[in-house]
Amino acid sequence: MAGTGVFAEILDGEVYKYYSDGEWKKSSSGKTVAIINPTTRKTQYKVQACTQEEVNKVMESAKMAQKSWAKTPLWKRAELLHKAAAILKEHKAPIAECLVKEIAKPAKDAITEVVRSGDLVSYTAEEGVRILGEGKFLVSDSFPGNERTKYCLTSKIPLGVVLAIPPFNYPVNLAVSKIAPALIAGNSLVLKPPTQGAVSALHMVHCFHLAGFPKGLISCITGKGSEIGDFLTLHPGVNCISFTGGDTGIAISKKAGMIPLQMELGGKDACIVLEDADLDLVAANIIKGGFSYSGQRCTAVKVVLVMESVADELVEKVKAKVAKLTVGPPEIDCDITPVVSESSANFIEGLVMDAREKGATFCQEYKREGNLIWPLLLDNVRPDMRIAWEEPFGPVLPVIRINSIEEGIHHCNASNFGLQGCVFTKDINKAVLISDAMETGTVQINSAPARGPDHFPFQGLKDSGIGSQGITNSINMMTKIKTTVINLPTPSYTMG
Ligand code: G3P
Repeated sequence: MAGTGVFAEILDGEVYKYYSDGEWKKSSSGKTVAIINPTTRKTQYKVQACTQEEVNKVMESAKMAQKSWAKTPLWKRAELLHKAAAILKEHKAPIAECLVKEIAKPAKDAITEVVRSGDLVSYTAEEGVRILGEGKFLVSDSFPGNERTKYCLTSKIPLGVVLAIPPFNYPVNLAVSKIAPALIAGNSLVLKPPTQGAVSALHMVHCFHLAGFPKGLISCITGKGSEIGDFLTLHPGVNCISFTGGDTGIAISKKAGMIPLQMELGGKDACIVLEDADLDLVAANIIKGGFSYSGQRCTAVKVVLVMESVADELVEKVKAKVAKLTVGPPEIDCDITPVVSESSANFIEGLVMDAREKGATFCQEYKREGNLIWPLLLDNVRPDMRIAWEEPFGPVLPVIRINSIEEGIHHCNASNFGLQGCVFTKDINKAVLISDAMETGTVQINSAPARGPDHFPFQGLKDSGIGSQGITNSINMMTKIKTTVINLPTPSYTMG
């Protein structure tokens, strides 16, 4: 159970502690932040409201710890990460329980998130040992006018302190996807979890504590964004920010100083369906892509662009599958569970009402109880409707009927987002041309968008992000290149 057994030390009465300098602590603020269970809409957990002084202390320890960590052998860093991964997987049940209570993630998906996170940490350890274990050797005489008198050793060095800010929808997985690359690359890590998802994250951090990482190398600060958000992101001790979330990322990017940024800020992933597509496959992927975790995924299918000639048939197939989705609490593993907050539910409802006023066809009756919104397919959506462009982050999916491939590509590219997209057709040549034309970081051919497997590169164009993630890219992003040039008195015989 959460907060018991090995996790008992992270809880003080009914308030979870924060993690600083290798210890679980109470904030001197004496204040707490309540975490509302999306299903019951009552306070489920409480976490510390940390102060700016506590942020300063964490940054100081992180800076100190990083110095010796950078000199710790790669195999030792990897060994500790493997240990943390095993502990994480061993304690998947209490962590998953937190995910169910804090973010209403269906029970089975919650377990999957923790196991996937353990696998990600292990894979990162192995990949780090491989790619950080070798650099480049250059000689000078390949460039005109030079003798072979210079040896250039190109190596990688850590950035320093990495600030990780994951979102509510994967508070464990999208935290470790930042923590593990940062650590294997020799950085220290300060985690600011989302408020909803904070307790899952604190449990996950405790697994790293139990693995025995040095004091101060990992910290986890909880609190109100209004008090410590800007303070953290603008802190002079931060050498890199890895953020996943919404518009806040744009604000962070505008204010951040001369530090590398890794940003993933959502998407409006389009699903383009051609006339020759296997419509059963498309329908199955629209359900999986559009309604998994009630549509609260950056990579969810967020607009279907289907050729008019096959639209009726596809809509009927999707409707039949929507009717089979179970709706209810996450504890009993329903497909559709309450969305994360009341304000999120209100936002989704606003998009639905706008579509209703402007004449969209409702394939199901719109139904909402508290934060629970029944799955809804909206047919005949037109570009003048908000839902054609905005991200609902909920179980509501618009269908736009198109008369040409160009029309589909045009809609996809007119979006300010550019995370992923997908195209369904049996013609691989057409699929590749469409993939080339879609201005998104990834295009999936004959499958719904998805970030994983976690070693694949993952990036967004336009407002969807900065940089590329995925295990290898994140490790590389969290290092800097350093070169050492050995100057020889006479030309050498050795080539590169
Ligand atoms: O930020 C990415 C996340 O929202 C989607 O990840 O694994 O569900 O494709 P995934």
